[in-house]
Amino acid sequence: MSVESTLRAVTTYRLTEMKQRGEKIAMLTSYDYSMAKIVDAAGVDVILVGDSAANVMHGYETTLPITLDMMIYHAKSVVRAVNRALVVVDLPFGTYQGNSKVAVDSAIRIMKETEADAVKLEGGEEVLESVQRILACGIPVMGHLGLTPQSIHKFGTYTVRAREEAEAEKLVRDAQLLDRAGCFACVLEKIPAVLAERVTREVSMPTIGIGAGGATDGQVLVAHDMLGINKGFSPRFLRRYADLHSVMTDAVSDYVRDVKECDFPNEKEQY
Ligand code: KIV
Repeated sequence: MSVESTLRAVTTYRLTEMKQRGEKIAMLTSYDYSMAKIVDAAGVDVILVGDSAANVMHGYETTLPITLDMMIYHAKSVVRAVNRALVVVDLPFGTYQGNSKVAVDSAIRIMKETEADAVKLEGGEEVLESVQRILACGIPVMGHLGLTPQSIHKFGTYTVRAREEAEAEKLVRDAQLLDRAGCFACVLEKIPAVLAERVTREVSMPTIGIGAGGATDGQVLVAHDMLGINKGFSPRFLRRYADLHSVMTDAVSDYVRDVKECDFPNEKEQY
């Protein structure tokens, strides 16, 4: 088997080419095999095994409680489903911030145990040493700036970030640092569109926006939000492409009714 045949069709190199060509990058989350199969077959370029799994799959209020073992469990199921998309896995809270050696160990565990393609982590200058050491091991790193949910207790709110000049300038500096360090892409979450446009212009890595306007090199959404499975979250940036909450609720109610009324199973549905 050649090295090429073990790689998925979308590589970090291909994402750089897409930015250079002005071709937009479509990224979505997945946390399990069945969803990842659908998302990959529908043509998404990058699948993120996000730590939003803490909220969506486990019902936690923040992303902080999810562990490295839990992320590896989700990522393994996703990787088994994917043929084409690049698979990126979030390093969860507490596995990279304090100590760059711990960061390297966490990233290596993800790459070894899940066979994913890359890791993502939140922050700029504060985590630069971790980013550099992970990259030095040959592991591609995606950055994440703007609203960084792992720091929710520092900010106290999920509101739009970097509206003030000082915070905006720090974000631009952080993006440049990550770019120079060699990150292959960077998520920009919930920041003003003009700022996202400036960052996108000033860095060579592709930027992937969520609530950051249309000028970024790509877009990312949480699949459960855009499919309308999770109805309790409706920020302005979210476009809902389906109402699966209603579709699934109706289907389950119909099933319950059919069982109670002895309509299911019928004669054709038995042996
Ligand atoms: O965890 C996640 O789903 C994310 C996206 C919102 C970018 O980080």
